Amino acid sequence: MENVIEIEHLKKSFGNNQVLKDISLNLAKGENLVILGKSGTGKSVLIKCIVGLIKPDEGKLTALQKNILELNTKELNALRKKIGFLFQSAALYDSMSVKENLEFPLRDLKELKQDEINIKVIEALQNVGLEKAINKMPSELSGGMRKRIGLARTLILNPEIMLYDEPTTGLDPITSKEISSLILEMQKKFNTASIIITHDIECARITANRVIVLNDGTCYAEGTFKELEQSNDEKIKGFFI
Ligand SMILES: Nc1ncnc2c1ncn2[C@@H]1O[C@H](COP(=O)(O)OP(=O)(O)O)[C@@H](O)[C@H]1O
Ligand SMILES: [Mg+2]
Repeated sequence: MENVIEIEHLKKSFGNNQVLKDISLNLAKGENLVILGKSGTGKSVLIKCIVGLIKPDEGKLTALQKNILELNTKELNALRKKIGFLFQSAALYDSMSVKENLEFPLRDLKELKQDEINIKVIEALQNVGLEKAINKMPSELSGGMRKRIGLARTLILNPEIMLYDEPTTGLDPITSKEISSLILEMQKKFNTASIIITHDIECARITANRVIVLNDGTCYAEGTFKELEQSNDEKIKGFFI
């Protein structure tokens, strides 16, 4: 199977704090990979390495066949356009309407005419079931709706890879489930490969084709959700209660 991300022996320390000790993993085209790990284990650091926001100390890191560590700024920006990144606190611009928020990532694409932009915005809103919110301000939306708009804004550039950093954190269980189902729906619709970082076990159950447990800076365990759910290992069991 074709891999869209390949990571080999990645290491990253901040001073004496050795965060990523030895991470190797692949993400296959079209796959949803869930990464489980306790707070502070380096999940966000890992994802930031993938988009070139943090430079690892050692290791190999390729995304869409490009060696991230050897790209110049221009090449990195081009690659980032193909990688959608939904941050933990997927902040919308509060002073902009939903429509303006969605237009924002399209502004760099100078070849797009306004009516083409309008179509893309409406399509993106339809994907997350929020066409009616087009003229609303972020402050008028619930947390779940803001998350959906954040997702729509990330998907509007049709990324080949999606990176979700704790997409359901801070949401109530029902809204979390809706967002998780939406992540699955988007995978099916666009055949996007995704890394989903979470400690929301329901989110993992809904979205994961494969799960990796990150512990103490390494990939501690790997398997399907069902396989890991049945594990007797204390470090793995902890996530499934
Ligand atoms: N830019 C940074 N500078 C220094 N330390 C950092 C930086 N980013 C993250 N860290 C440290 O790396 C560790 C892992 O952080 P993080 O990846 O955010 O954890 P999580 O698994 O909760 O996402 C933490 O100890 C954090 O303090
Ligand atoms: Mg984090």
